[in-house]
Amino acid sequence: MARRYFTTPIYYVNDRPHIGHLYTTVVTDAFARYWRLRGEDVRLLTGTDEHGQNIEKVAKKEGVAPIVIADRHAPTFKNLWQEFGISNDDFIRTTEPRHRKGVEEIIRRIDAAGDLYAASHEGWYCAPCEAFYPEKDLVDGKCPVHGTALELQKEENVFFRLSRYGHRLLRLYDEGVDGRPFVFPETRLNEVRSFVTAGLKDLSVSRTSITWGLPFPGRPGHVVYVWLDALVNYVTALGFGSGDMSLYERYWPGIHVIGKDILRFHAVYWPAFLMSAGMPVPRQIVGHGWWLRDARKMSKSVGNVVRPDELVKSFGVDALRWHFLAAMSFGQDASFSDEDFLAGYNADLANGLGNTLSRAVKMSRDFFGGTTPPKKNKTKVSFEGPSAAAAARKATEDWKNAFEGYRLQDAAASIRALLGAIDAEITAREPWKAARQPAFSSKELFDFRSDVLFDCLEALRVAACMLAPIAPRTATEIFRRLGIDKRAEDVRESDLVWGGLPLNAPLPQAPPLFPRADAKEYFASKETPVTDQKADPSPFQTAPLATQAAPAPAAPAPAPAGAKIPIDDFLKLDLRVGEVVAAEKVEKSKKLMKMTVKLGEEVRTIVGGIATAYTAEQLVGRKFVFVANLAPAKLMGVESNGMILAATLPETGEPSLLMVDPAVPSGAKVK
Ligand code: MSP
Repeated sequence: MARRYFTTPIYYVNDRPHIGHLYTTVVTDAFARYWRLRGEDVRLLTGTDEHGQNIEKVAKKEGVAPIVIADRHAPTFKNLWQEFGISNDDFIRTTEPRHRKGVEEIIRRIDAAGDLYAASHEGWYCAPCEAFYPEKDLVDGKCPVHGTALELQKEENVFFRLSRYGHRLLRLYDEGVDGRPFVFPETRLNEVRSFVTAGLKDLSVSRTSITWGLPFPGRPGHVVYVWLDALVNYVTALGFGSGDMSLYERYWPGIHVIGKDILRFHAVYWPAFLMSAGMPVPRQIVGHGWWLRDARKMSKSVGNVVRPDELVKSFGVDALRWHFLAAMSFGQDASFSDEDFLAGYNADLANGLGNTLSRAVKMSRDFFGGTTPPKKNKTKVSFEGPSAAAAARKATEDWKNAFEGYRLQDAAASIRALLGAIDAEITAREPWKAARQPAFSSKELFDFRSDVLFDCLEALRVAACMLAPIAPRTATEIFRRLGIDKRAEDVRESDLVWGGLPLNAPLPQAPPLFPRADAKEYFASKETPVTDQKADPSPFQTAPLATQAAPAPAAPAPAPAGAKIPIDDFLKLDLRVGEVVAAEKVEKSKKLMKMTVKLGEEVRTIVGGIATAYTAEQLVGRKFVFVANLAPAKLMGVESNGMILAATLPETGEPSLLMVDPAVPSGAKVK
């Protein structure tokens, strides 16, 4: 049986997971699930990267040992993966003894090959990347990945003779492994090729400036460079360096799915370490693009990350899994927005899938006494042009080709196409109509409905099989709704063959699979901003996402002048028309006016800095625009619950209030 070993990167434990981490893990899980469905012996590994400067820094700040941070955060990742149905066979933590043994063994081998030496070293260090950058790679003197300031670090290090491996690496890039390119996609292969062609410098693989790392064998005071430590996880999790090498022998070399930011580590350093240690290089490095926010990669250090919490709470795990695959051209960058998510959700899941399924199931229940049709369609006339079986066959072929070519968006598109064909079939044939031209006998009508609905429900069954690697819980639920007792994990290639729908099987009644989302309602009810505008110092999630309480909203940082903000930032403001029913100047203040404001049914106190421009009499009985959802603030001892909006006159700097047509009722929303 063919074998395939997939790995995700191992995640730093100085941050709780965001959608970037989730994306890498979900796509890798989809690949693993796909190949299991195809009958291969698949292993999937994920884990946490727990050593290094970043974790040491967080621990220092909190005044605890780094392992306390790691022990607190590693379960956050484990729990999130469980919540998202990630089918990993193992979870490795680099602080585990099994890992240390393997790292020591690989360093021993590299040393024995004559590839290690000690020398002093100075360079620009990016802490979030845990890497040195040569001067020429800096962008405005800053980190090319994070755009953050760099530290000039000087230390005595152990070096790895990376420069020796340039030729062998270039040969690997040219020849690939077992007929496959070493790096996918080609653009990324070209990137590493030019990096290596430009000339490789030896790499420092130990640190003396930090203590939170594995002790470097034979070099007291040195710890292993975190990237050498981390990369080796892919083999230590298979028992490399331990007594039992059976998993290593069975599954290595593996396929590493990674984000493009960590390509150099995986496609240059890692194979060079392995070559030096006399071990097989990875089978393939698969690099995906970034989810961007405001045209920048999401990262904690930039402060623009999107957390999955709100979307999952409202739409479920599988909606996000689907979006990850369907909305990003695999390998390229894409922008993440709630608007796109909601549009895709409504089009593909609420409508394309959910609605089509409930229509077909309802008709079958109605016409056949609560069951699937009593017989298979033998007439082969349905699905406009090709038969339903042929339409499904084409969809599954497209889906397979897409998965095998890492075109996940096309795999999603093939499911969308099949669902579209089912919907079109129902609309064109109108099985609910009893009066037909020419008229049908009751037997003819029964047979006609049976034929059409068998094809539709059977095509839905095939679509569920195709969904199994992408949205496993949804696939299992569709089976249940089709009267089939099967889990997504048990789907095999033979299930894709036409004709598997059970006949006369009871169809349960069920609520909508994906209820349609009202974008306005969603944005109005959102409890947290979609991005963390400032780093969230603590509490890391430990409860399943769907059940946990949303964290308190973070204060948005002011957008730089002229910067564009996404619509959902604007929609966070609750602007209302309010009527001033009473007003008086705040004692001892020149500027402040205390107003009693009616916002619909509600009456509030709002304080505004308008007393130099308006008297109380000029305000009472008039309507203005207010921000109604500002956190309360005390101004000269008076609590204000909102803000009045005014333009600032350019000449004098005085406020000029925004007038509202008296006919507009107080409480009306402004947008
Ligand atoms: N610890 C290293 C990996 C060591 S692997 C031997 C690391 N960890 S990380 O937590 O910073 O990132 C892990 C993965 O998340 C990377 O593949 C990275 O590309 C991915 N993502 C982080 N932000 C991302 C986006 N905004 N979009 C998509 N994926 C991104 O790097």
